[in-house]
Amino acid sequence: MARLQLVRALLAAGVLTTASIGALSASAAPAPGEPETGIVGGDIAHTADAPWAIQLSNSASPDPTGEYCGSTLVAANKIVTAAHCSTEAASTYTAIQGRDVLSDKSTGKESKISSIWVDPAYGKEGGHDVAVMTLATPFTGVPTLALETSTAADTAGAASVVYGWGGTEGTGPDDTFQKVAVPVLGDPYCSDVYAGQGYTPAGEICAGYENGGKDSCQGDSGGPLVLNGRLFGVVSWGIGCADAGNPGVYAEVATYAAELQAQIG
Ligand code: ARG
Repeated sequence: MARLQLVRALLAAGVLTTASIGALSASAAPAPGEPETGIVGGDIAHTADAPWAIQLSNSASPDPTGEYCGSTLVAANKIVTAAHCSTEAASTYTAIQGRDVLSDKSTGKESKISSIWVDPAYGKEGGHDVAVMTLATPFTGVPTLALETSTAADTAGAASVVYGWGGTEGTGPDDTFQKVAVPVLGDPYCSDVYAGQGYTPAGEICAGYENGGKDSCQGDSGGPLVLNGRLFGVVSWGIGCADAGNPGVYAEVATYAAELQAQIG
């Protein structure tokens, strides 16, 4: 608990970046027979098949490509990301669409960020790790994801998929777009394993595997958890990555859909 809260506090204070906190997290080896690529335990993915997945790079990132967080295109000029990814000045971000390998700057489109809205309750109570950024140069014509609006979607066993360019814990190529299926484990499971660590059932989704092995990780934050073709969750937190008994926690989009939609317009 102490480590997680420390990491979250340092992130909020801007002392740590999403990339640097990976060093503080326990490592997890892939299960035998699992492909050694990440997210953690995932597969190479292609932005051509997930065009709404947007890399949110930042000039403060220690990663040479600027890799920082994920986000999701929800309108031509709006992305949804995590509140904890949104603490830097707008001018320091670049949104990147259609770039599978972030070092390959010959591919994809870029936009600067013109304004940032962060859920005003973030940090004051549990959950609320959501933000909306406005693109200076809209990604016109790129398919968007609709928000999930029903909290009933957060049901154990639902087959959601998470996408990102984040940490692989040394198990795969860096800064390369990946995806992994993470079933919903349900609020009771995370309320139990994260007892006292701030899991918020009304506003968060618990997804992954009780035995670990597959998960989102540092640098995937803000990115999409997709279910039924809708934006179901936003990568938020976990303890380590892919460790048994410590699944991924996602902001529950349906809980915040009305306030997000008001920003998206
Ligand atoms: N907070 C991390 C970030 O800023 C994401 C952590 C996700 N962790 C997990 N075990 N699913 O990138």
